[in-house]
Amino acid sequence: MGFDLDFDQRRALGYQLIDLLNDYYASLPTRAVQPPPVGSPPDAAPRPLPERGGDPALIMKDLAVALIDQGFHTPSANYFGLQNPTPTYMSVLAEALAAALNPQLASLVHSRAAADIERETVHWIGARVGWPGAFDGTFTSGGSEANFTALALALATHFPDCVEQGVAALDARPVLYTSAEAHHSVDKATSLLGLGRQALRRIPVTPAIQMDAALLEARILADRAQGFTPFCIIATAGTTSSGAVDDIAGLADVARRFGLWFHVDGAYGGALVLSDRHRDLIKGIEHADSITMDPHKWLATSMSAGMVLTSHPDALRKVFATINPFMPKARDYQRIDNFDLGLQWSRRMNSLKLWLTLRTHGREAYEELIDRQISLARRFAQWLEGSGAFELAAPQMLPGVIYRVRLPGASEDAVRAANEAVVARVNAGGERWISTAIVNGRSVIRTLVISYLSQTRHLEDLQSALLEATAEIGNGAVRDKVSLSAESPAAMIT
Ligand SMILES: Cc1ncc(COP(=O)(O)O)c(C=O)c1O
Repeated sequence: MGFDLDFDQRRALGYQLIDLLNDYYASLPTRAVQPPPVGSPPDAAPRPLPERGGDPALIMKDLAVALIDQGFHTPSANYFGLQNPTPTYMSVLAEALAAALNPQLASLVHSRAAADIERETVHWIGARVGWPGAFDGTFTSGGSEANFTALALALATHFPDCVEQGVAALDARPVLYTSAEAHHSVDKATSLLGLGRQALRRIPVTPAIQMDAALLEARILADRAQGFTPFCIIATAGTTSSGAVDDIAGLADVARRFGLWFHVDGAYGGALVLSDRHRDLIKGIEHADSITMDPHKWLATSMSAGMVLTSHPDALRKVFATINPFMPKARDYQRIDNFDLGLQWSRRMNSLKLWLTLRTHGREAYEELIDRQISLARRFAQWLEGSGAFELAAPQMLPGVIYRVRLPGASEDAVRAANEAVVARVNAGGERWISTAIVNGRSVIRTLVISYLSQTRHLEDLQSALLEATAEIGNGAVRDKVSLSAESPAAMIT
């Protein structure tokens, strides 16, 4: 069968897919995150390469069974795991459109209309940061590429010769700083930039899981005294394990005083620029030299979409501009080709899903989403504190809550075993999903309200599951709580 499907075939297959997606979306408020385990599935041997293909409608049906019936469903309202949201439906439609039109965003000659949409989206988000002057930015594959890009800008700004001659030619040993809880993409970026992972100084965090500014300053001074050249501080707005937000204004001040580039990894929490009400949580972000944001996290687009924004509009071009011998320039166009602004040449139109979601629902829909998810997490945290069975491991800031089984006087190993046992039980039936993590050296249970479909009732069900799990592992205080809530459902937080 050739690739050139006819009008009716395309239409029938398209409708088949839309029906499937629509059924899937209808199921999400009640869908189990994963099918109940049936022993450990054998590793399926790859099937032979199909020489001839087959009936597309049947193949799509089989695929739906494999991916949906057997899949792990991060879009479910019962998923409280990593920063993977239920994608907005408009973002799903945008993905189909981008795939069909397939604009070659590298060059303006091939993608003016698409590039304009991308510029507009960068402008919408960048303007919310509150930079007093000009800014620029570009879409990336995700937060890892955005962090890599930002650190490349920082390095090239501090050591302009680096771009042509590389770090090996430098008469300096560049070092940079982030918190012990920052995402591992900054380790990778530091290494890929030729600095070596040890150049990244990981500064311990306070009990609120924020980078300790006093220790940061001490380390910068010690590094300088030992002949290193500090060039960048990376703050995190919303750490992966705990959702903590560094004191951005305080760290910006340290960066300013020492003359360092200030990057904010807001892959998750950077979304707060769209909130008027909770904007205070990222106070100081307007002092950043660069910011990472991942629309595929809190802004609920499908994967993948990252952004890097910078208040140094020329910096991207200084790092990425190259000579391109095979694509003509758009002569009547004043703008810079996208390939001169980032790492990728061919790339997906990752902006469209955010643009279409914003265009359809408006910023206020995000304001409401952020507000609701923070309130749900706050109420969940209050419930944990009153439960007698758990204790918060750090103050709740964003919609992520970290906590521990309450075992006064128990060793860290015992608490870790209890946390893991509780999470294993909560997740056992496949209905919902939470996780454990190590935060600041201690075992925690983490629960992130990430789906826009998650409501009070989903969290109440989780609360019941948590109490049952703790009762099963034999915590007496918890057993009392379970029977109390069974007699009196009002005892559960609503
Ligand atoms: C704080 C933070 N930064 C960066 C990243 C990397 O983003 P991506 O997965 O889009 O590459 C993540 C991902 O979870 C993150 O939580």
